[in-house]
Amino acid sequence: RLRVLSGIQPTAGSFHLGNYLGAVRQWVALQETHDAFYSVVDLHAITVPQDPAALREATRLAAAQLLGAGLDPERCTLFVQSQVPEHAQLAWVLNCVTGFGEAARMTQFKDKSARQGAESTTVGLFTYPVLQAADILLYHAREVPVGEDQRQHIELTRDLAVRFNGRFGETFTVPGAYILKDAAKIYDLQDPAVKMSKSASSAKGIVWLMDEPKTSAKKLRSAVTDTDTVIRYDPEAKPGVSNLLSIYSALTGIGVAEVEEKFAGRLYGALKTELAEVFAEWVTPFRDRTRQFLDDPAELDRLLARGAEKARAVAAPTLAKVMDRVGFLPAG
Ligand code: TYM
Repeated sequence: RLRVLSGIQPTAGSFHLGNYLGAVRQWVALQETHDAFYSVVDLHAITVPQDPAALREATRLAAAQLLGAGLDPERCTLFVQSQVPEHAQLAWVLNCVTGFGEAARMTQFKDKSARQGAESTTVGLFTYPVLQAADILLYHAREVPVGEDQRQHIELTRDLAVRFNGRFGETFTVPGAYILKDAAKIYDLQDPAVKMSKSASSAKGIVWLMDEPKTSAKKLRSAVTDTDTVIRYDPEAKPGVSNLLSIYSALTGIGVAEVEEKFAGRLYGALKTELAEVFAEWVTPFRDRTRQFLDDPAELDRLLARGAEKARAVAAPTLAKVMDRVGFLPAG
């Protein structure tokens, strides 16, 4: 089985619809066909200020949502990044083969740091993509299922793997991004020019999975479209309608062309209302399952401890090899 690895940041409140459709949905499918490793990346979360109690809660909530979405600890390895110390250790080594200019070109860093201002931007945020590379390379992952916004980080990971292998001898598998075209980028419902994102989206434009289904249904029904009336997939000319078609298609598994056909000659209102229904139908059982996992934190922690153990069994030998290649003395 081909190995895949991916990660998601724990966020207060819950994941949003972009996270689910762009990434998590693929993760659930891939656990059936691949050797899958999925991580709640709490080390990444502290690159911006975090309240300790809130982080702990968000990390459990993230794990519960992944289980609620259908990850099965018997079929994949689900773990919390900070519980596998090899991530931070490999990140240090990789920091030392990454060019400063190379890291400075990462567009997510440029966007986030511009929003925060230089004084409140941490060095951790700057080296964030290098830690991400460590996440992937520790497991020799061949494919990394992510949304479009992560493509540049996967490219960096490839560059670092190739460079390290060239300098120190064949060590890492060079991974590729696994991005599904249809839901690679879900847009803000109120501003379909920007991606749905916890930091950039307007409150009304972002659908939080753990919100009351009624609240989310209302947001979907009041999505911004255009003054035309034709329901057609055309992201350039009709970004709002196209976004709704993508979401509908991803949630139902019906191809975009077929969804277009289904709504041919009907009004935008019909698409929005049906989409809100489809969403509510999916999200209700998802929320119930997630809450069940949250209701038993001891069992959740046990699952995560087991996941971390499975992850370490793969990560530790990779790190040991790296340390040796670099020229560190054996730990004894
Ligand atoms: P994060 O936590 O911001 O997002 C998790 C996943 O959700 C996808 N995503 C979207 N997909 C489609 N439309 C959107 N609007 C949208 N918003 C988010 C992201 O592409 C991502 O796949 N750096 C990563 C986490 C990470 C990681 C890794 C990923 C850390 N280590 C190793 C892969 C492999 C991040 O911050 O994702």
